[in-house]
Amino acid sequence: MPGDLSSELDRRAREILSANDRGGYTVPNGRVYPFQWNWDSAFVALGFATFDKDRAWREIETLFEGQWEDGFVPHIIFWKDDPGYFPGPSVWGTQRTPRTSGITQPPVAASVVRSLWEDEGDPSFRPRLELLFPKLMAWHHWFHTFRDPIGKGVVVAMHPWETGRDNSPEWDAPALAIDTSQVGHYQRQDTGHLDPSMRPTKLEYDRYVALVQFGSRVGWDHARISAENPFRVADVGMTMILLRANRDLLALAEALGSQAEAAEVRGWIALAEAGVGWLWNEEVGAYCSRDVITGRSSGYVTSASFLGFYAGLRTEARDARTLAHLERFGRSTRYLMPSLDPDEGGFDAIRYWRGPVWAVVNYMIGTGLAEAGLTVWADRVRDDTRRLIETAGFYEAFSPVTAQGTGGGDFSWTAAIWLHWLSERSASSG
Ligand code: GLC
Repeated sequence: MPGDLSSELDRRAREILSANDRGGYTVPNGRVYPFQWNWDSAFVALGFATFDKDRAWREIETLFEGQWEDGFVPHIIFWKDDPGYFPGPSVWGTQRTPRTSGITQPPVAASVVRSLWEDEGDPSFRPRLELLFPKLMAWHHWFHTFRDPIGKGVVVAMHPWETGRDNSPEWDAPALAIDTSQVGHYQRQDTGHLDPSMRPTKLEYDRYVALVQFGSRVGWDHARISAENPFRVADVGMTMILLRANRDLLALAEALGSQAEAAEVRGWIALAEAGVGWLWNEEVGAYCSRDVITGRSSGYVTSASFLGFYAGLRTEARDARTLAHLERFGRSTRYLMPSLDPDEGGFDAIRYWRGPVWAVVNYMIGTGLAEAGLTVWADRVRDDTRRLIETAGFYEAFSPVTAQGTGGGDFSWTAAIWLHWLSERSASSG
């Protein structure tokens, strides 16, 4: 890539993060997502770290200011009112200060904190690490208490939004159990900002709202939700991300000399390593999410199916079958990694999590492939991501067929992944 294009994109990416910075936290996109989102903030910190380390730590610290006493970290913190998003804080009804949603999101924060700590090698950040570490422990503890009701070390999502892959077809069958007859009238805001063909359907949105109403009715009692929620799906994405995050948390525990915590985290890792096989679908030859209520595997190969490498899992037979899908995806689409198998009937190159490529997911997949020594594939995923951004700009997601940008523009986490992983500056530093 010509160096001037790379540095122009570096400049643009920094500009986007600064424009979306609301003072201590960053909105994913000023119009569509005007609050602090959980995993967005974690990835955004990686971007800030390339030019403002203090601000990077601050992003994570602000996220943990929304943590509840039981360790839960919400998927949204509503720091300020904004009528441009539905459902706002009054619909969630969590009765918290700051106001928050009642579900969580994929726990990437521990992995990001490890990266901030180790990449910088600056001991002056140690007091900040010491303050964050128990909060990270408490959040992971919460996951193992309230999001693993079957005790296998797999993460059971209670809402499609919790997975971060909102309208993945993996949720279609499990969501049939959600009663939407009492949802009532509400006004979506997302389709006012963006072309509805890129967004979830009305039926999907009704189900999202019905689950929020259920949580609110039971007072966001996480124990009751974990036992009674009408949607309970072991998500392959969150499971892999938590396993990876536990390995990173263990490294932090060791760096801090926290023996008891290290032992507890080792237990979580061992549990997940033994339990994750429950998500392997032998017929399909991939990791797929599984409905806990019916026991059914989704049978869909999605971008999340490739996160086993990122989770540090290496199993010869499973890896070979996963890589066969990767090769097939690579032949069927111009740009990896489509969020859904491009040979599936429901594949839709521009509809959110039913086809488009997401830079943050590619970052995790590419990192895992590189760590597994699968350099050719790691490079392909990284180069494709780079080309998508060069072609379309810093979109929320991209068509794997045409590189068209989909969803919102000037997206914070896409800018952050550029700075951390894709710019020539980051490439030269490894
Ligand atoms: C959408 C995405 C989710 C993301 C949020 C904010 O809901 O599906 O992963 O966190 O937008 O960007």
